[in-house]
Amino acid sequence: MLSLLLHLQGIESVVLESHARAYVEERVRAGVLEQGTVDLLTEMGVGERLKKQGLVHHGVHLRFGRQTRRIDFADLTGGKGVTIYSQHEVIKDLIAARIVTGGKILFEVEDARIRDFEDGGMVSKRPRISFKHQGVAQELECDFIAGCDGYHGICRPSIPEGALTIFERTYPFAWLGILAEAPPSMEELIYANSERGFALLSMRSPQISRLYVQCDPEEDIANWPDEKIWKELHARLASDDGWKLTEGPVIQKGITGMRSFVVEPMRYGKLFLAGDAAHIVPPTGAKGLNLAVADVRVLARALEEFYRRGNAKGLEEYSAKCLRRVWKVQRFSWWMTSMLHKFPDENAFDHRRQVAELDYITSSRAGQTTLAENYVGLPFD
Ligand code: DHB
Repeated sequence: MLSLLLHLQGIESVVLESHARAYVEERVRAGVLEQGTVDLLTEMGVGERLKKQGLVHHGVHLRFGRQTRRIDFADLTGGKGVTIYSQHEVIKDLIAARIVTGGKILFEVEDARIRDFEDGGMVSKRPRISFKHQGVAQELECDFIAGCDGYHGICRPSIPEGALTIFERTYPFAWLGILAEAPPSMEELIYANSERGFALLSMRSPQISRLYVQCDPEEDIANWPDEKIWKELHARLASDDGWKLTEGPVIQKGITGMRSFVVEPMRYGKLFLAGDAAHIVPPTGAKGLNLAVADVRVLARALEEFYRRGNAKGLEEYSAKCLRRVWKVQRFSWWMTSMLHKFPDENAFDHRRQVAELDYITSSRAGQTTLAENYVGLPFD
């Protein structure tokens, strides 16, 4: 995304990717794009398949106490919505577009290391990245490094200890997710708070459902045969309005951990952290991809200002500007998670309070609006 944004401004970049192209193009990840993400992809000229295959949703459902309440995004946010389109499809579109525009993307890069990216005072050196590609050791010299290499990447740990402050929180549950060959049982997503724990009905296409249940973080997927997963889904998504869950063959399943994590600042010298390299949100609300897009949009603009006008102000302000959004999105993801999940140490008071919150959020227009405007995505600027 960043490489294409930079290219559109005439700025050269090289993308180093440790995985194979096929791997990143097939790996099942998120699937909900905020309005701003969709608009940006469209402006960048990579919105064609997204427009054809994406499913536009103008609302979501919250289910609790076997009742269903809809939040009407379009009405509450002046016509905005989200689009269901898989992250790996976005990746395919971006890679294809970048290759067609002559971009350099090296896949299956090994042993990447970065150095000389700290601010050098009077004798500033140029950052360097050493790596192996197709068995050949190489070194790249550059103006800036964008650390878009995820939570487990090499960039964040390359920053000297003591330069970063970490803020984090773990959750006493995880998500067990499946992809099923079954038409989605509802046109829009259902987030369910049930006595047995959280469940989510989502989708990837008119033929493929994506479903999740809250589980123990130590759970072994081997202990979850398909029948057990469907049984839990039926129990947690049950409602009194005649709605039925459609089953189908499970084509993929896995467990996702949940954490909230932020490092500050998101910049060290000429190294700029973006996306999961700098922050992780729990999945509730589907913000991870969208937050990464917002980061690189800020970075691309700052770099454009630097190369066009020699103005480094945007680069200086990168971290603070991103973090303002990061923390709002952290708050939203934490809030959605807290409101919808069953906590192992919760008591009857906590559960009543959760239900009251869901009742308030879904019945007051102010409550609905706070969920809707965060869900469709806060404004970029
Ligand atoms: C999906 C994931 C989410 O975290 C979410 O809040 C909604 C949908 C999904 O994978 O479809």
